[in-house]
Amino acid sequence: MPEEIESIMHELRKFKPGKEFRKKAHIKNFKQYQKLYNESIKNPEKFWAEIAREIDFFKKWKRVYCWDPKTLKCKWFDGAKLNVSYNCLDRHLKTRKNKLALIWQGEQEEDVKTYTYEELYKEVCRFANVLKKLGLKKGDRICMYLPMIPELAIAMLACTRIGVIHSIVFGGYSAKAVETRIKGCKAKILITSDGSLRKGKIIPVKESADIAVKKCKSIKKVIIVKRTNNNIQMKRGRDIWWHEEINKKGIKDECKPAMMDAEDPLFILYTSGTTGKPKGVLHTTAGYLVYVYITAKWIFDLKDEDAYWCTADIGWITGHSYIIYGPLANGATTIMFEGVPNYPDPARCWKIVEKFKVNIFYTAPTLIRALEKEGNKWTKKYDLSSLRLLGSVGEPINPEAWLWYHTHIGNKKCPIVDTWWQTETGGILITPLPGAMTLKPGSVLRPFPGVIPDILREDGTKASVNEGGYLVIKQPWPAMLRGIWGNKKRFRETYFKKFPGLYLTGDGAKIDKEGDFWIMGRLDDVVNVSGHRIGTMEVESAIVSHKSVAEAAIVPYPHAIKGQALYAFVSLNKGVKKTEKLKDGLRKHVAEEIGPIAKPDRIQFADALPKTRSGKIMRRILKAIAEGKEDLGNTSTLADPTVVEILKQKRQ
Ligand code: PRX
Repeated sequence: MPEEIESIMHELRKFKPGKEFRKKAHIKNFKQYQKLYNESIKNPEKFWAEIAREIDFFKKWKRVYCWDPKTLKCKWFDGAKLNVSYNCLDRHLKTRKNKLALIWQGEQEEDVKTYTYEELYKEVCRFANVLKKLGLKKGDRICMYLPMIPELAIAMLACTRIGVIHSIVFGGYSAKAVETRIKGCKAKILITSDGSLRKGKIIPVKESADIAVKKCKSIKKVIIVKRTNNNIQMKRGRDIWWHEEINKKGIKDECKPAMMDAEDPLFILYTSGTTGKPKGVLHTTAGYLVYVYITAKWIFDLKDEDAYWCTADIGWITGHSYIIYGPLANGATTIMFEGVPNYPDPARCWKIVEKFKVNIFYTAPTLIRALEKEGNKWTKKYDLSSLRLLGSVGEPINPEAWLWYHTHIGNKKCPIVDTWWQTETGGILITPLPGAMTLKPGSVLRPFPGVIPDILREDGTKASVNEGGYLVIKQPWPAMLRGIWGNKKRFRETYFKKFPGLYLTGDGAKIDKEGDFWIMGRLDDVVNVSGHRIGTMEVESAIVSHKSVAEAAIVPYPHAIKGQALYAFVSLNKGVKKTEKLKDGLRKHVAEEIGPIAKPDRIQFADALPKTRSGKIMRRILKAIAEGKEDLGNTSTLADPTVVEILKQKRQ
């Protein structure tokens, strides 16, 4: 068990929600949660049918769900017809037409745009009509490579309106990453911008897009949003401006929503796994929508008057589910922020909280730790009294950060929901329900109704109380991924092979004697750097593709702000000099191959790597060296044990 998790588990203080919060909460006490949970397990059909009634279907389902653990066929609300954008927009027009759906805060303070439900509806319809005019049809794919600007939200909803599947590429990824994702789903259109802003500087996004598209035959058009007004090259016949297309004569602000089948694909989102290539996680329509709707409602305790802000980037699943689809399906006001938390100063987030009187704030531990380090003078600058509920996601939150968040941001009155989930799960699976549960810093507490997690040992038997093991989910839930785009085999092998028929999360966890869950981190080759999921194999392949490199191994090590950071052991080709310049060159190369987030913090050149007699690199030993451990465990199976001492001496 990693040491930081050990320390998490020694924090034993508990925090009850306040009376006022409880009284108004959707789920008011533990008994109510237990009742709901038990009903959801005893009779899932009835439970989910009741929840789904809160969503508008054009045609009712024939069956709530079916699941065959042998064929892995999973269907929710089969036979039903519905439309996601209809549920996020049209159905609110009767009662919330003039309510703000989206508040956009640009990187510059004065850059603010707001959209009422009616305004957003019209924009979405217009853009859906543009896509239709370009010939896009149900089932086609579109890639988006955009900064956090309103057009991203509009484009997503427009896709769902006409049944086009979106695949969003995080704006910080490289041209190479965009290229693989476009190729992966054979996208017909790429939506990008002339540039994006980062700490006042313009990042030439279009240049990366051009490099990517050059190698992608499937792309017919590139739609460009004008954001930074910098000079860009427009390729004739291929590149078109968003603002020109949307304002063309004949583009109406009404567009009939497509009648989608419950299991029609909604979006693809690439995420990192154990093997080299990222995988395209596929989510479908009805189950995903119902699940993000109800989890957003109960976990964030959404009320009509709330201003809700999730700081994630829409390029990740958190942004999909809990900036766009979940909150909008609830008719909430969702805030989207283009900038970064420490620019122009570390009070930026708190300034936004005060400005928009944010009630619910959802972020990642890495942000909390980074802002905690800056000291409390920044949090005191602004009025945070509007906050009612705080959330955390993406990585384990250490008790120190939890307590700081609770005290200095939540003024000791806001419950904190530490939500555990994954790209593949579509929505939150294990979490406190804020009005119903007593919080323990570092614990994600309980499964959401309908979710049956368990902790298993290597041999598939159940782990006992406080014993760490593999976290699995025993029954499908509505937003479970339905597959890996274009790779059926990988779906089974990654998630359902180790314990046949059970969903393998890849995380380790344990349950304490009170029945509460504690996440212990990944058990596979996935690392969580600042809440970003990175496959070590992916970074290894990137480094090895550098002309000077013979071999490389990447391992994580604990990092005070990022949670985990990457440590690279690199063997160079014969005759190549080990210089600091080369280290910079390797980092740059990784940034080009994947994106700056995958750059290793530490690089150590090694004449040899520790290998078994059969030639396998022993990453376990490298990890222990990177962590600064004296005891490296059993090294007797190494072909050459002397390698280890040298590596240890030269540790970075
Ligand atoms: O290791 C878990 C960690 O993030 C992984 C999923 O990453 P991704 O698919 O990028 O989705 C992140 C946002 C949902 C998980 O396998 N993780 C996520 N939430 C938590 C967490 N680890 C501990 N506590 C959490 N609350």
